[in-house]
Amino acid sequence: MIDLRSDTFTKPTLAMRQAMFDAEVGDDMVGEDPTVNRLEAYCCELFGKQAAVFCCSGTQSNQAALWAHCRPGDEILIESHGHLANYEGGAPAALTGVSVQYIQGVGGMLDLEHLKGRKRPPEQHFPQSKVLCLENTTNIGGGRAYPLEQLQRVTEWGRSNDLICHLDGARIFNACTARNYSPAQVAELFDTVSICFSKGLGCPMGSMLVGNEAVIQRARRARKLFGGALRQSGIVAAAALYALENHQDQLADDHRNAYRFAEQISQVPGLTVPMDEVETNIVFIKVSEELGTAEEIANRFAALGLKMYDIGPQRIRAVFHRDIDAEMTEQAAKIVQQAIAAAV
Ligand SMILES: Cc1ncc(COP(=O)(O)O)c(C=O)c1O
Repeated sequence: MIDLRSDTFTKPTLAMRQAMFDAEVGDDMVGEDPTVNRLEAYCCELFGKQAAVFCCSGTQSNQAALWAHCRPGDEILIESHGHLANYEGGAPAALTGVSVQYIQGVGGMLDLEHLKGRKRPPEQHFPQSKVLCLENTTNIGGGRAYPLEQLQRVTEWGRSNDLICHLDGARIFNACTARNYSPAQVAELFDTVSICFSKGLGCPMGSMLVGNEAVIQRARRARKLFGGALRQSGIVAAAALYALENHQDQLADDHRNAYRFAEQISQVPGLTVPMDEVETNIVFIKVSEELGTAEEIANRFAALGLKMYDIGPQRIRAVFHRDIDAEMTEQAAKIVQQAIAAAV
């Protein structure tokens, strides 16, 4: 089975498991796990921020950031497909008591024309617009990576409107790979950045939130409140350290495989893949209605040994990752061609 459902399906390698086995540990809740401390310090340096808090998941680091930034009655602004407001169980409302202003962008990305007039006036009738949330790379929005100039424009708009800027950087290293900027160049534009180790970097779990001392202190309190303050979590922090040191370079291969796959299947009648939108490890395929629904087509692929998620009635997503090599990529494209030939 070739599994392109998500980069979250990556499994820890033997070397990563060995690093976990060898990890020096302590009680992280009192700040005494040396491996967690090392990982937090490493991320501060990489992202050019004062402080960092190791979290269980991307959901936890995103939601801890919102809790740290907002009060009930505040509002966050986010692109319509944004993960933290659509796929995190309603957490902004449930955990922090904020409402969400969804803004339609392009490929999951926002620009000035989308944001104009979206900051609410400071008047008693309105929720108080507090945080501008961006996602880079975008996931459901389109697998796109923001150009640095666009991030600069948009966060400048946020700051000039007194908004705090948060980045959901679940796949920030994919964005850096695709656009050739550094984590610190991106992070300097944001008050907080959430980073995931459990996606393309191949760790079993773990995320990091970086920001200034004061905001991370509040986020640390949120982590505790959400049940995410752990004890000997150095075991999983060791996997993240291992991945940061050994797995970043290979993200470029995932992007190459994604592009190669997209190129091949874009020739298939009834499937549309805009090649100029394939920028990272995520490929979206539009299925024509004459072929059937995305669910029906995804089931056909699965019957031939290729798993992908149908995301929307006519939309299928393929995600490339370190457990998929060039040969499996060729094979995946062949399965798509075969399945569609059989469907027409
Ligand atoms: C863009 C984005 N943000 C946040 C998350 C949440 O991460 P987790 O599943 O670790 O909670 C995901 C998960 O897929 C994601 O794609």
